[in-house]
Amino acid sequence: MRTQVGIIGAGPAGLLLSHVLHLRGISSVVLERRSRDHVERRVRAGVLEQGTVDTLIEAGVGARMLREGLPHHGIELRYGGAGHRIAFDELVPGRSITVYGQQEVVKDLIEARLAAGGDIRFDVENVALHSLESQPYVTFGDGERLDCDVIAGCDGFHGVSRPSVPEGVLRTFEREYPFAWLGILAEVTPSAEELIYARNERGFALHSMRSPTVSRFYLQVPPDADADDWPDERIWDELRARLETVPGFTLATGPIIEKGVTPMRSFVVEPMQYGRLYLAGDAAHIVPPTGAKGLNLAVADVRVLTEALDAYFRDGSTALLDGYSAACLRRVWRAQHFSWWMTTLLHTFEEDDDYGRRLQLSHLDYVTSSGAAATTLAENYVGLPFDLTGPL
Ligand code: FAD
Ligand code: PHB
Repeated sequence: MRTQVGIIGAGPAGLLLSHVLHLRGISSVVLERRSRDHVERRVRAGVLEQGTVDTLIEAGVGARMLREGLPHHGIELRYGGAGHRIAFDELVPGRSITVYGQQEVVKDLIEARLAAGGDIRFDVENVALHSLESQPYVTFGDGERLDCDVIAGCDGFHGVSRPSVPEGVLRTFEREYPFAWLGILAEVTPSAEELIYARNERGFALHSMRSPTVSRFYLQVPPDADADDWPDERIWDELRARLETVPGFTLATGPIIEKGVTPMRSFVVEPMQYGRLYLAGDAAHIVPPTGAKGLNLAVADVRVLTEALDAYFRDGSTALLDGYSAACLRRVWRAQHFSWWMTTLLHTFEEDDDYGRRLQLSHLDYVTSSGAAATTLAENYVGLPFDLTGPL
C-alpha cells in the first residue's frame, strides 16, 4: 500500500490533517489504534479558540459546530467570595471562544473524511515506523505495510511516533504538577452562562458545559486519585464547597454520565521533526488543561504542516518542511507559558506557605482589576493570531 502522507492517530490533529490534505489533492492514510466508537466517545476538550473555529469552517467541517456550539464572550474567575468577569467582548473586541466538545469535532471530521472516500483504519495494532531518514514506511497489524513520502505523528502523548526517533535527537522540556483533574460530565443544565474558574482553599474547580442540558466539571484532586474513590455524592459535595462561594449561586446537580482523572503535565520536545517524520499535537507537546489550549495547539500545528506539505508536493520545495518545528514552537511556547500561568494562578499548591498564598491572591486581584492584566489573560485565552512573528 502506498500514500503520500502516512498519518498515525485519528485524534483531532490526524483527522484534520487528513481532511485538509485531501482538499489540496494530497493523499493520506490514517492508522488509529482504537475503535471509531472509542475515539468518538472520548470526552476531552471543550473550548475552541476563534482561530480553531475559523479553521474548521474554512475546511468545510464547521456546519454542526456553528449550529450547536456555544459562543462565549467571557469567563468568570471566582475567588475570595466574589466572581470577576473577564469580558472578552470589551478586552479583545471581535474575538471569542466556542464551547463545543472535542468528540463532536472528531465525529464531524470522521464523517467528512469517510464521505469523501478517505482511508481511516481503526483498531489497528502493532504500528511501527521505519526508515524515517530516507524512504519511510509504517508496518501494522499482521505484517501489513504502508509506504509513504512523509509520516505525520499525530498519535498523542502516549503514541509510538515520538519514541521512534533515535535516542539523543529530541530534547525534552517537562514539568509535572502535584495534582490531577477529576473531570465529570453530568446531565444537568449549566448553573451559569459562562465558564467559572474557581480558586479555592480546598482546591481548584471549573464549571464548564457542553450544551443547554449537559454540564462539564473539573476538580483539582491528588495526582494519584482514583475516580472509583469519588462516588457521585462526594463529587457534588466538593463541587458545591468550591463553587457555592458567592451569594446567590446554587449548583444544579444531576446524573453523572462520565468520570475520569487526567494528570497535569507540561511537556515539549524539540525539534518536532526528524527525517521524514513530523510530530503534531499532543505527540509533541502537552499543556495542563487550565488554559484550554491543547486541542487548539494541535490545530495550529496542522495548519503549519499543511502549508509545508502543500509546498513540498506541489514543487518539491523543502524550505517550509525544514522550518516546520521552528514555525510551530513559537506558538507552542506561548501556550506553554499561558497554561502554566493559569495553572499556578488558580490551583492550590500544598508546598505553598502563607506567603505564596498571599502572592496568588494578589496576582488574582491584579488580573481582575487591571485592564492591562485582564487583557493579557483574554488575548491568550481567545487565542493569539496564527502569525506570531510580527507585533501582536
Ligand atoms: P489525541 O487526541 O491524543 O489523539 C491521538 C490519537 O492517536 C488517539 O486517537 C490515539 O488513540 C491514537 N494513538 C495513540 N497511539 C497510537 C498508536 N501506537 N497507533 C495508532 N494510533 C495511536 N484542549 C483544548 O484546546 N481545550 C480544552 O478545553 C481542553 N480541555 C481538556 C480537558 C481534558 C480533561 C483533557 C484530557 C485534555 C484537554 N485538552 C484541551 C487537550 C486536548 O484534548 C488535546 O490536546 C488533544 O486531544 C490533542 O489532539 P491530538 O490529535 O494531538 O491527540
Ligand atoms: C472543558 O469544557 O472541557 C474545558 C473547559 C475549559 C478548560 C478545560 C476544559 O480550561
